[in-house]
Amino acid sequence: MIMINIINSPQQYPKCDLYKSKPQISFCGTNTVEKLSKDVIVGVRKKLIQESAFFRDADTLEFVKDYLLNVLKKNEINIVDGACSSGYETYTLAMLFDKADKKINITGFDIGKQAIADAKKGVFTIKRLKGQYATLLDYEGFRDNYLAFSSSKELSPQNLKYRQLFNEFFTEIPYKESFSLTAWLKRKLLPKKFVIDIETKAFQILPEKSKSCRFVQSDILQLDKIVPKHSADALLFRNALYHLTTKEGPLNFKIPLPDEQVIPAVKKVVEQVDNAVAPNGLFVIGEHANDHVLTAGKTLYDELTKHNFSPVFDSFDGSMHYIWKKNSL
Ligand SMILES: C[S@@+](CC[C@H](N)C(=O)[O-])C[C@H]1O[C@@H](n2cnc3c(N)ncnc32)[C@H](O)[C@@H]1O
Repeated sequence: MIMINIINSPQQYPKCDLYKSKPQISFCGTNTVEKLSKDVIVGVRKKLIQESAFFRDADTLEFVKDYLLNVLKKNEINIVDGACSSGYETYTLAMLFDKADKKINITGFDIGKQAIADAKKGVFTIKRLKGQYATLLDYEGFRDNYLAFSSSKELSPQNLKYRQLFNEFFTEIPYKESFSLTAWLKRKLLPKKFVIDIETKAFQILPEKSKSCRFVQSDILQLDKIVPKHSADALLFRNALYHLTTKEGPLNFKIPLPDEQVIPAVKKVVEQVDNAVAPNGLFVIGEHANDHVLTAGKTLYDELTKHNFSPVFDSFDGSMHYIWKKNSL
């Protein structure tokens, strides 16, 4: 059980093996992009980057689970999973809380219309590279291909546990590759050694396992429209702040917006967070540095502190505060 009055350290709360040993080299979950329709505006961005994965940064989610079940100890727990993309994170929360002896309500929301439609459908593909390129995946990121491919013998106890949960929640369905002219031409025209061979499996959530989850399209800046005041025992908004604080540059570089735009946007986010989170509830930020650096990160920390939140779960070196607790007055 966690000691909530002390910020975690690796001794008090060991990191899980998905994250511990090596830094994330590149992304390896799913990496889709949704173009915004004209009526939906997020900062100045025209595209939403919806990269996500099952059990992404799982140690953070394990802390949330431990806190809600063993420290907060309510009989009914409300979790709001903001920027849920197509549902990887929301269903991960459902898997982690599955055996809890409490009523768990999980609301996933995202501003992306397609993302929410996909989350409701609950069909996911998991991919792995084959052949000479397979080694490209040989790192510990937040990849989720271990859920579908690796032999059980190779898996750590933590990954075995996650795969077992995944198998209890999802059933494999036939995967039909959609035709892409570019991929077809590459396969036909390029020498074999330049063609990246990818194996894909598709899975669908079992209806009885998705009962605790609901999905709505919404903007963090209008959270009060979907979340009653002070009702969220945990609110997540992981790896998404940059959508409000940067614009798209060449080669997908994120260019920070001027402070005059960033500061009010982050202040509004924190007002909404404060309004939604229950006393002693948690606010969870992503582990990507984008959530923590530059004016956006500094303003976020300052505003959370002003609104009576304090950090309870930090990065390994203490430089980033991933989870904040709202102190009761
Ligand atoms: C990189 S994904 C992160 C997904 C997931 N939270 C994770 O960490 O794996 C960022 C998500 O934020 C969503 N998003 C961006 N701006 C948002 C806003 N203002 N309100 C709600 N969701 C937003 C995007 O549509 C996208 O799905």
